[in-house]
Amino acid sequence: MDPSRLTSQNRGVTFTIPGRLAAACRNVPERARWLARLPDTLRELQQRWSLRLAVPFDRDEASCAWVGPVTLTTGQAAVLKLAMPDMEGEQEIEGLRFWNGDPTVWLLEADDDLGAMLLERCEPGTALRTLPELEQDVVVARLLRRLWRRPPAAPHPFRPLSSMIAYWIEETKTQVENWRDEGLVREGLRLFEELSRSTTEHVLLATDLHAGNVLRARREPWLVIDPKPFVGDPAYDATQHLRNCDGRLCSDPDRTIRHFADLLDMDGDRIRLWMFARAAAEPRDNWNDDALMTLARAIAP
Ligand SMILES: Nc1ncnc2c1ncn2[C@@H]1O[C@H](COP(=O)(O)OP(=O)(O)OP(=O)(O)O)[C@@H](O)[C@H]1O
Ligand SMILES: [Mg+2]
Repeated sequence: MDPSRLTSQNRGVTFTIPGRLAAACRNVPERARWLARLPDTLRELQQRWSLRLAVPFDRDEASCAWVGPVTLTTGQAAVLKLAMPDMEGEQEIEGLRFWNGDPTVWLLEADDDLGAMLLERCEPGTALRTLPELEQDVVVARLLRRLWRRPPAAPHPFRPLSSMIAYWIEETKTQVENWRDEGLVREGLRLFEELSRSTTEHVLLATDLHAGNVLRARREPWLVIDPKPFVGDPAYDATQHLRNCDGRLCSDPDRTIRHFADLLDMDGDRIRLWMFARAAAEPRDNWNDDALMTLARAIAP
């Protein structure tokens, strides 16, 4: 048996739990409780939605959720996703309802309390990440421009981006003993607050749109999965894809940011400031990551 996987017997049915997911849940009590209930939850959803389950995806990408291919009684191919408790991903279901297949995958069924989603399956489902980065830039920019819409009239379920930024600021402050360059981190924290405060355009953001969350499909060439919606500055939403192009971003940050900003028809200055704040002051497990700090120094305002 693959030692990175756990299997769980639940009334005669075996469920596979990817090792990376189990590891992500281990040290957080709320997630450990969620993981302990997961086999029961899977069994319940399997019955309720009449699903045939297969072995879950267990690639580099799947670390925050149990995600697996399923088949409906009609023979339709779908994907079941159960996300672990996570501040950033709390409104994925609401986001998929809002975007309603344009340009995300369809939400076929959902259980808000369980954080469970039955999704349209992308086939063949190849990630955009497999294409050269300059091609990724074009696709991601087009998708972002389609995603950015005014949120519904209040009251709506979506949180402001400033709430995620405030959460990060607090996290980073708790890690003060591990900072290596206090001046740079404090400047990043200051900018996080200033950028949140000075936002004038407020749209619904995906916040985690990178080429691993864009999959090849039939209904459209590419569909978005795994949105983590917040309402705020579209310039922020450019940073996740850039951050994933770290080789290019670190070797030539100006050109990389300007090129992507042009594709988005945006002013690159705010993208650059958000990118700096993230590189300098986003919470992280390892503050010895010199690449991020070098990037922060290279694009510091
Ligand atoms: N609708 C879908 N169709 C086909 N494959 C999918 C679909 N949704 C997810 N997958 C597969 O499952 C993987 C993990 O899905 P997803 O990104 O939603 O999970 P996650 O654990 O929240 O990811 P992340 O680690 O990025 O937070 C994807 O990279 C993809 O391979
Ligand atoms: Mg993902």
